[in-house]
Amino acid sequence: MPSDAIQPILSLRGIHKSFGGVQALTDVSLDLYSGEVVALVGDNGAGKTTLIKSMAGVIRADKGQFFFEGNEVTLSGPAAASDLGIQTVYQDLALCNNLDAVQNIFLGRELTGPWWSGFRVRRADCERKAHEVLQRLRLSGISLTRNVGAMSGGQRQNIAIARSILWQPKVVLLDEPTAALSHTAAEAVGKLIRELASHGLAVLVISHDIHQFVIDVTDRIEVLRLGRKVASFASKQVTGEQVVSAMVGGNEEPAGAR
Ligand SMILES: Nc1ncnc2c1ncn2[C@@H]1O[C@H](COP(=O)(O)OP(=O)(O)OP(=O)(O)O)[C@@H](O)[C@H]1O
Ligand SMILES: [Mg+2]
Repeated sequence: MPSDAIQPILSLRGIHKSFGGVQALTDVSLDLYSGEVVALVGDNGAGKTTLIKSMAGVIRADKGQFFFEGNEVTLSGPAAASDLGIQTVYQDLALCNNLDAVQNIFLGRELTGPWWSGFRVRRADCERKAHEVLQRLRLSGISLTRNVGAMSGGQRQNIAIARSILWQPKVVLLDEPTAALSHTAAEAVGKLIRELASHGLAVLVISHDIHQFVIDVTDRIEVLRLGRKVASFASKQVTGEQVVSAMVGGNEEPAGAR
């Protein structure tokens, strides 16, 4: 259900990737649209993380094309993806437990004073901007000054997502943001993801939580099996059973053939 776009913001065409003898991705094509949340699902080892990493510039595909805003591009690395406006939230979150939310949100990208101040970090400005970002995401309940090591899994996930949108990206890729979260915390992350899409971002989210998160939160579901894209569903028009059946290679027919 793309809101304002006829042209996808990001397109993959015919992506192949192997690791030694393992064919991780075979001829995968995918389109992402601004304002739309797409779920990427599949069994363990189906190639989901590999696909996200190829869009994040972390791994280079062996074959295939990558288009961003209609132009073919070659990503030389993660910085190139980030420059285009593609941000990734990995499963380990890469947060520093001994730092607070503000420090984590700005990690490595702090707002600093001029050279004659020794590029001193402008803490007050960082705090103001972090507060703005959290407010925009309706997360003002999160403490800016508590070490994130003392926070819950859900709060940490939210901080990692806030961090990813700090410089207003156009695409956000999330690898299993609800893994290991309670039902309530996963629901909160789901709301946050809808919030990102409502601000016009294209969102791709890997999840194993088919019956709740994937069906309830996303607009479209893309299924990978053994490195191939085998099915695509409108989330509103499909049951969890049908999605799982496509994942495991059962009968793709409706009516829960499992
Ligand atoms: N760096 C690597 N070196 C060798 N093989 C790899 C590498 N990364 C992934 N693979 C292999 O590629 C295949 C796809 O892996 P990938 O991590 O993309 O799966 P996934 O769908 O994310 O699985 P999961 O749900 O378990 O996270 C697997 O067979 C995996 O072992
Ligand atoms: Mg994975």
